Parts: sequence; structure tokens; C-alpha cells
Amino acid sequence: MKTVRFGVSMSPKLLQRFDESIAKKSYANRSEAIRDLIRESLVEIEWENSDEEVVGTITIIYSHTTRELVDKLTDFQHQAHQAIISTLHVHLDEHNCLEVMVVRGKSNFIREIAERLISTKGVKHGKLTMTSIGDKLA
Ligand code: NI
Repeated sequence: MKTVRFGVSMSPKLLQRFDESIAKKSYANRSEAIRDLIRESLVEIEWENSDEEVVGTITIIYSHTTRELVDKLTDFQHQAHQAIISTLHVHLDEHNCLEVMVVRGKSNFIREIAERLISTKGVKHGKLTMTSIGDKLA
């Protein structure tokens, strides 16, 4: 099989962390590890864009001191009520809130909801996890 070589630039610190992480996973070399990461990412993108029924969680961290942000997030969660089954809210400290939403629906729609929530100005961190439940939902 024909292969192509290409260069990747990154900070020495990031490369060191990468090398440490692939050593733990027993990769023979960086190329092998990078190929796996790329494959994994492509599969994920493909899957996230399909209309498969999935369940998952959307986790966000934000400061509740921005009243507008809280209103915006709540409004949007109501709009998406059919996909957002449940929400857990934890007051992390005086300012920060952690919210975990349990979601269920078609993967492309769930991804849209997650992207919109996570990209909302003022949301500090966000993460979507999805898993297939196998059979189609009724
Ligand atoms: Ni809170």
C-alpha cells in the first residue's frame, strides 16, 4: 500500500505528553498512534452525522452569574425538550455550575443540540457522549 509522509508541528510539551500517552498504550511509534487517532475520529464523525437512535449525555460548565446566559440555556433546553430527558444541576462553587443533560434521539440532532449548547457564549466547557442503544426507539 502506498503511504504519504507529512509533517506535523506542535509544541515540545504537547509532543512529550503525546509520547507518554502512546507509550502507555504500547504503540510501536507515533505514526501508528496518529493513524489510529485519525481512524477513530473519522468513525466518530461519520456516526455522529447519521440518523441512528442514540442515548447520551451533554455536560456543560458555566457561571450562573450571567443571568442572560442562564435564561438562554433554559430557553434552549425547553425548545429541545423532546430530546433532553433529564437535567442534573450541581452548584460547583459560588459561581460555577455543572449541568448534565441526559439526551435521547437521532444522533445528528443530538449533536446539533450539544454543539449549540457548548458553543453558547459563556459556557466554559462542554462535552457530548453518545452511545447506541441498538434497536430503534418506538
Ligand atoms: Ni448552579
